Amino acid sequence: MSWQFSEKNEKKFQELLKRYPKKDSLTLPCLWMIQYQDGWICEDAMKYLAKKLDMSPMDIYSIASFYSMFHLKPVGKYNIQVCKTLSCQLRGSQSIKKHIENRLGIKAGETTEDMKFTITEVECLGSCGTAPCVCINDDYIQNSTPEMIDEIIGKLK
Ligand code: FES
Repeated sequence: MSWQFSEKNEKKFQELLKRYPKKDSLTLPCLWMIQYQDGWICEDAMKYLAKKLDMSPMDIYSIASFYSMFHLKPVGKYNIQVCKTLSCQLRGSQSIKKHIENRLGIKAGETTEDMKFTITEVECLGSCGTAPCVCINDDYIQNSTPEMIDEIIGKLK
């Protein structure tokens, strides 16, 4: 069977449809629903959403791929996003990234074998004033240090 919303998400979709005058305004909420349903957004889900919103699959892909918060391939239970943009680079994000890579034994862009951790390099996380910034799933670690990262990874392991 091809990809489809869960019953719960279909209900949510029908509710959202009543609130928005244009279907394409539902793109971001629907991408979140897909991601929370599967943990990532596969090609079939993008095609499914395009049909539902009367858009092209390429429109959906261009939106989903623009935002670093959307995963277009499976990620671990904990997605560790390290900002690679200027403010964070100047405040040591590259050494934080290397520290995480060494700690987990994987490189950025990879997932541990047990599917527990993924390291992702992302553009600005919008927290430049507290660089270097790392985000694990939805939680920001501001002014991050290797010690802070070690403590958090230790708790998540
Ligand atoms: S440059 Fe890293 S959060 Fe903006």
